[in-house]
Amino acid sequence: MQTAEVLIIGGGVMGCSIAFHLARRGIKSVVVERDAIGSHASSAAAGMLGAQVEMDEPGPLTDFCLQSRSMFPALQAELLERTGVDIELNRAGLLKVARFDEDVKRLRERQAWQTAYGQTARWLKPEECLALEPSLHPEVRGGLYLPEDWQVSAPKLTQALAAAAQRLGANLVQGTEVRAIERSPDGTWHVDTTQEHWIADWIVITAGVWSQSIAEKLGWHLPMTPVKGESLALRPKEPLFSRTLFGPECYLVPKANGEIIVGATERDGAWDEEVTAEAVQRLLQSAFNLVPRLRDSLHTRSWAGLRPGTPNRFPYVGQLGDENRAVIATGHYRNGILLSAATGDAVARLLLGEPAPELAAFAPMSQADVQKWEEG
Ligand code: FAD
Ligand code: GLY
Repeated sequence: MQTAEVLIIGGGVMGCSIAFHLARRGIKSVVVERDAIGSHASSAAAGMLGAQVEMDEPGPLTDFCLQSRSMFPALQAELLERTGVDIELNRAGLLKVARFDEDVKRLRERQAWQTAYGQTARWLKPEECLALEPSLHPEVRGGLYLPEDWQVSAPKLTQALAAAAQRLGANLVQGTEVRAIERSPDGTWHVDTTQEHWIADWIVITAGVWSQSIAEKLGWHLPMTPVKGESLALRPKEPLFSRTLFGPECYLVPKANGEIIVGATERDGAWDEEVTAEAVQRLLQSAFNLVPRLRDSLHTRSWAGLRPGTPNRFPYVGQLGDENRAVIATGHYRNGILLSAATGDAVARLLLGEPAPELAAFAPMSQADVQKWEEG
């Protein structure tokens, strides 16, 4: 039997970020990971910090994304200093490209609300897009330049957070699955894993799309669905562009090692992490439509991951009941890399009773609300 002050279930970016933010405040948590650290969605991600490109309206989720994005420069420096791992924060920005007339209209609307919201969003005419990124398809209709939508290496971010947490005293237990959880009368949690039995004061559920089945063990029915994403990497013979190019059918994210990540499909409800030939064909065609010279590049890898989806696409971040020392942080859907910084910090504050950002919009739904979602 082992004891832990805080036991975190799942070692993706969310679990590792929470372990790191707790560790830098002196709390040495235990992270129990079924496979290897960062081996699922968190390594499948393209690493965009797309607070503007991914959000369609102002509101609490956009605010959380903007807050999280702003934390990355300091996080990069701290992780580099603590671990020597560079998360490859690329601050060249992102160009959301219009290929058709209806894209132009949508992007001008996005520019209007984001500018009114205090964000930088510059409309570029076709010739300005081509001056900025000459390898774009010559028939581009214009683009929205978002200079603060940066990107990182998602696998390196997760590994760096895990390494920093470990150096500060966190215990990372890999190859171990949580099987059963019970609350004892004294309020502690008894957690059975495939290796050991743990007694913990707090538990934190960060098991990605698999969190639903863990929350069920505590009597919480939080609807979730996998949103499968397939991606591939290309290696051009010479660098073609330096900014993330986000088109109507795919995005292209240039990485420090010379690869370009082409992503990503979206399939609701698929639980497998395999790549189909059809997805590869579709991604390649979409990439060539955006940057024709990619046809000459090498195809180096393809992969898939499961985005943790919720009914309203808001994450669940908060305590499971006021009396329980149980917290959930999952359902970050397309933005888990972006939101890992603010979520890690917010959950650490919650556990320590420190002032935390407003999380009401992400509170795990009450049973009544869940029923409303399911009824339609
Ligand atoms: P995961 O990374 O899935 O981690 C959960 C972990 O829990 C897993 O390692 C799993 O093994 C473990 N686990 C499950 N059950 C148990 C158990 N019973 N016991 C122990 N461990 C358990 N986000 C962005 O911000 N920017 C992007 O550019 C971006 N691109 C993406 C591209 C693709 C193709 C995909 C698929 C996702 C992308 N995302 C992106 C989304 C992002 O990857 C996810 O939101 C994020 O990684 C979720 O992290 P997580 O830690 O919650 O889940
Ligand atoms: N945020 C990009 C994706 O989820 O594909």
